[in-house]
Amino acid sequence: MKRRKNIIKIAIDSPAAAGAGTLAKAISKHYNLLYVDTGKTYRVLAREKINNPKKFNLTFVKKKINKLRIKDLNKKNLLSNEVGTEASIIAKNKSIRNLVHEFQLKFAYSPPKRYSGSCLDGRDITYNIVPDADFKFFINANVRTRALRRYKELKKLKMKISFKEVLKSIKLRDKRDYTRKIAPLKKTKDSVLINTTNLSKRACFLKIKKIIDKKIKN
Ligand code: C5P
Repeated sequence: MKRRKNIIKIAIDSPAAAGAGTLAKAISKHYNLLYVDTGKTYRVLAREKINNPKKFNLTFVKKKINKLRIKDLNKKNLLSNEVGTEASIIAKNKSIRNLVHEFQLKFAYSPPKRYSGSCLDGRDITYNIVPDADFKFFINANVRTRALRRYKELKKLKMKISFKEVLKSIKLRDKRDYTRKIAPLKKTKDSVLINTTNLSKRACFLKIKKIIDKKIKN
């Protein structure tokens, strides 16, 4: 893979439903960056595993990843709680992670020419996928706030689920993501912490924009 030179690379890590996706999208739009929601790459595979449990093996995953396009990450059928939970199980598998990484690296370092760079969010982006990112952020919020946000999103999509179930599954995913041996979620020393618990989307966006502009304009 040929890496593009002189592009802006932004890496974001966060636990589930902390608001990273919303922020990453706004930042990507503002700076003309390709946005990659890396959680969705695991969710695509989780959806396949739920739909075809018998077919699901490494060869199948490899084929799926080879065919995967950015637009495939926008499908509505990836948003359920069930898919998120299955994604966090799949994400513990090293061989699967290696295959997924190829896809993520390609877009992080070689976004299409029309973009000025890339912005990836996930769990291991700041230290594993784009360790040389120009900007690194760790987006967080307390667990009840995160669960409430996810609950509202799922309700909007008319999914049948209670707040209690969402809270339980977010806690379970946190545990899996923070404690797994391979590529655990963590805040690196060189990432800026943004706590979104009591901040509006606009306020978070402006906080990040200020940090980026300060460096870009110097
Ligand atoms: O971000 P999202 O909730 O869609 O991610 C689903 C799951 O995928 C996470 O709980 C995590 O286990 C896994 N994931 C990961 N590494 C990433 C992004 C997501 O392990 N870079």
